[in-house]
Amino acid sequence: MTTQVTSTPEVKPDHQPTPEKMPGHWLLAKMGKRVLRPGGLELTRHLLSNLAIGPSDHVVEFAPGLGVTARMTLASRPKSYTAIERDRLAAKTVESYLTGPNQKCVLGTAEATGMLDASASVVYGEAMLSMQPPSTKSRIIAEAARLLAPGGRYGIHELCLVPDDLDQSVRDAIQHDLSDEIHVGVRPLTAAEWRELLVNAGLTIVAERTAPMHLLEPARVVRDEGLWRAIRFLWNVAWHPAARRRVLAMRKVFRKYRAHLSAITLIARRESAAS
Ligand SMILES: C[S@@+](CC[C@H](N)C(=O)[O-])C[C@H]1O[C@@H](n2cnc3c(N)ncnc32)[C@H](O)[C@@H]1O
Repeated sequence: MTTQVTSTPEVKPDHQPTPEKMPGHWLLAKMGKRVLRPGGLELTRHLLSNLAIGPSDHVVEFAPGLGVTARMTLASRPKSYTAIERDRLAAKTVESYLTGPNQKCVLGTAEATGMLDASASVVYGEAMLSMQPPSTKSRIIAEAARLLAPGGRYGIHELCLVPDDLDQSVRDAIQHDLSDEIHVGVRPLTAAEWRELLVNAGLTIVAERTAPMHLLEPARVVRDEGLWRAIRFLWNVAWHPAARRRVLAMRKVFRKYRAHLSAITLIARRESAAS
C-alpha cells in the first residue's frame, strides 16, 4: 500500500483553492459528489462486467479520482491493483482503500507510467481521456496497449459526441462551452473516433455501450450517490453561492447540448501475437 511520488513535471498540484476557479470535477467532489464519470455507475458496471476482473488479473486503473471504481475492482480481489493518479489529494483518498501488498497508488501520469511492458491483464480509465488534447489521448491509449499482455483488456468510459458526422460548428461550440464552464479543456470525440483511437493502438473492440450524459440530473445523482449522499450534495450546493452558480451553469451546458452529448464505454482487447 504505497503512494509513490514521481518527479514528473506534469503531475498536477493539489485541488485549486476557490470554487470559482477549480476544475468542475473537483468542485463537484468538494460538494460531496464521488461519481465523476459521464455515464454514471450504470456504465461503470457495464465496463467492469465486460472486463471480468478476477483473482488472476493484474489491474491498472488510470485516474481513479476518488476511488469509487477502485473499490468495486478491489472487491473482485485481483492479483494486483495499481492506480496512476496525477492529483495528490485524490491519490491519498485512493490509498486509504488499499489493503494488501500488491495494491498501490502511484502519483504520476497515465501517459508515462514507468511500468513494464505487458505487465497488466486489465487496464481501464474513466472520465480522463476526454479532457486531454489529441496527442495526449493517443499517448495514454498507446501506454495502455503497451502495458497489456496479449489477450489483455482495456476499458474506457468517456464523453461522446453524437452523431458521428456532427457538424464542426456544433462540435466547436460544445467544446468551447464545456471548457468554459468546467474550467478544464474538454475535447470529447464521436463513437467512431474513440473506436479508431483504440484500433490505431492495435486493439480490437469487443464491447460498447452508450448512456445519456446525465451527470447532474437529479435522478442520476440519486442513483449514483445514494439518497442521503445526494441530499447532502444538493444541500452543500444550495448553501455555497459560488458553487451553486457553477454547478447550475455546468448543468445548463449539459442540457443545452443534450442531443449531441452522450457517455460511452468501450472495451478492447490486445490480441495475442498468434491470432
Ligand atoms: C473527471 S475526474 C474522473 C475521476 C474518476 N475516474 C471518476 O470517473 O470518478 C478526472 C481524473 O483524472 C485525473 N487525471 C487527469 N489526467 C490524468 C493523467 N494524464 N494521468 C493521471 N490522472 C489524470 C484527475 O486528476 C482526476 O482525478
